[in-house]
Order: sequence, then structure tokens, then C-alpha cells
Amino acid sequence: MAGTISPSTGAAHARIAGVGAYRPRRVVPNSEIVDAIDSSDEWIQERSGIKTRYFAGEGESIIDMSEAATRDALEMAGMEPGDVDAVVLATVSHPYQTPAAAPMLADRMGMDKPVAFDISAACAGYCHGISIASDMVRGGSARNVAVIGVERLSDFTSRTDRGTAFIFGDGAGAAIVTASDSPGIGPTVWGSEGDKWDVIAQNESWIDVHEQKLDWPTIGMQGQSVFRWAVWSMAPVAQQALDAAGVTVDELDAFIPHQANVRIIDAMCKQLKVPEHVAVARDIVDSANTSAASVPLATERLLREGLAPRGGLALQIGFGAGLSYAAQVVTLP
Ligand code: UT7
Repeated sequence: MAGTISPSTGAAHARIAGVGAYRPRRVVPNSEIVDAIDSSDEWIQERSGIKTRYFAGEGESIIDMSEAATRDALEMAGMEPGDVDAVVLATVSHPYQTPAAAPMLADRMGMDKPVAFDISAACAGYCHGISIASDMVRGGSARNVAVIGVERLSDFTSRTDRGTAFIFGDGAGAAIVTASDSPGIGPTVWGSEGDKWDVIAQNESWIDVHEQKLDWPTIGMQGQSVFRWAVWSMAPVAQQALDAAGVTVDELDAFIPHQANVRIIDAMCKQLKVPEHVAVARDIVDSANTSAASVPLATERLLREGLAPRGGLALQIGFGAGLSYAAQVVTLP
């Protein structure tokens, strides 16, 4: 007779217990970018809203930045590295094909053999990570999950590409997901449109770079195509996440979209009819587009500056290369 498998038992609900951030020391204003791309501070601000970005330097690797952000998040959560039993790290700029950055981070921080893996979902990676962490806590495969979004996009950006040189920045954000008595992370609405994979992509594969002796590969983007997709397709996804959570836009305290372009953020606010009292994240002005790090960086900032209340409701959405997206309503830690 076949035996029966014991069910895994998890927590009733999950929540974010703490968030943290790391912004590199070096602030790079538009004036440092414009000459190489025949642009201007005015054009960049008008078209994207970006004034500055952070570029990581020596001693600010993917692991270094992740460690700082995770320590910050653990402090808010009132936990120690040893309490973390899972690390889910979202990035597209970890410079090793293997191993993943997550186990390297876990080792650096002295964690006790946590499950640790990376996810590659570009600018949607952090919101994917929150969804996975929530499922892990509720499914019983982890108790306290560190979710990190981290990028060193300056390593993969061409300084002379007019379409991307001013867009990307570096940084890390982290969240600790743990058990909760009441729902703190709403259902995730997520998906992908892989037929558009080529509108944001590494320009050449590693194999082409090696075999054809090409230059170091950078990330290319068909800006207008991504812009249109983001404006028209992502507001409905955000609305679905609100509906799935049973929350109306008026009940929100904060709206934290991926920081891709201030014009995209404004267009989404208009479509969703985001009321005046909702704090809208506009960290892009100072931090530019930090891909997987943008949502947690913006979250940490809204809380630190007191623009959104602790315990308040936030709608967050990530979208980008893939094209991949993920959105959910969360209770702010
Ligand atoms: O994180 C993943 C998701 N990413 C995004 O969501 C990014 C989406 N895309 C965008 O945010 C925008 O497409 C950009 C900010 C990248 C570009 O803004 P745009 O309004 O779409 O510019 P454009 O490419 O349509 O170019 C408009 C004009 C063109 O000149 P003409 O043809 O109108 O004379 C370009 O040649 O601006 C010119 N241009 C520039 N001028 C100064 C293009 N790039 C530059 C530049 N500086 N860097």
C-alpha cells in the first residue's frame, strides 16, 4: 500500500516586517552624463523626471549593497541574520553566471544555511520575490524570508547609448517577509509577454561576445515601445491587484510603482484615479531606474520621510524586461 505524504503546514498569513535600503555614495547628476550622448539636463528631466542617479564604486558590489539593505530591513523587523531561513534575491546585474548572489549574501551575513536563490525578472523581480516569499511562509517552506532587489546597472549600461545612458542607476532594497495573524500581502497579479522579449535585452549573448570577440555587452531598450506598453498595459494590472485584494484606490496610503519614468508614473496615477491623499513614490528623480531595487528603495524612502504611514496600505507594481510584471497590495511595515 502506498504511504501518504504529510502535508506541509505554514502560517495563516504573511506580512512585510521590515524594509531597508542602500544607496551608493556616488551621486551622478545629469551634467556628468549629457556630453557623451549629446543631451541636456533639461531634456532628461522633461522626458524622464531624472535629476541624479547613484553609481556604485569600489566596495559596493551586489553583495555589499545587498548586505547593507538587508541589515537595515532586519533591524526594522527586530530580527538577526540567524533568524532568516530563506533568501530570495532579484537582480539582472550579478556579475557571475553562477553561483547565484543569494547564497553568497547568506554566507557574508553569517546566516545559518538558509535556502537561497536568485530570480531573474528584471524590474519586476522584487514584486515576484514578495509573492514567492508570501507563498513560502504560508506554504510552510520558510519562516522568515529576506527578499532583496539589487542592481549595479552601471556595469551593464553603455555611456554612449542615448536611449539608456541617463536611465539606469545602482542600489539595493530589501524586505523581510514573515508570518502574520492577518493578511499583509495581497494576492499577486503577475505574468509575462515574452513575444516582446527583445524590447529590453542584453544586446548580445555571452556566447556571441566570446566567439565574435565583441565588446562588453550592455542592456539595450526600445524606449518608446516599453513606454507605450507600460502606460497602457500596467495600470489595468495594478487595478486587478487592487480588486484581488478587495481594496479600493481611495483606501490606499501609498502607490509605489516601478521607478521607470515620471511620465509613466503620472499616467498610471491618472488611469487609476489615484486620489491626492495617496503618497506616490517618485524616488526616480534622485535614484533613476534601479530595476529590481526600485520598488523597495522607493518604499523605504516613503517610510523614512514620513510620507506614508507605517501599517498603511500600499499598491506596488514592478514591470520591465521579459516583458514581465507583478503587482500586489501590501501592508507597510
Ligand atoms: O525599467 C524597465 C522599463 N523601462 C521603461 O519603462 C522606460 C520606458 N521608456 C522611456 O521612459 C522613454 O522612452 C525614454 C525616457 C527612454 C525616452 O523618452 P521618449 O520620449 O520616448 O524619447 P524618444 O525616444 O521618443 O525620442 C524623442 C526625441 C527624438 O528626436 P526627434 O526624432 O523627435 O527629433 C530623439 O532623437 O528625443 C531625441 N532623443 C534625445 N535627445 C536628447 C533621444 N534620446 C535623447 C537623449 N537626449 N538622450
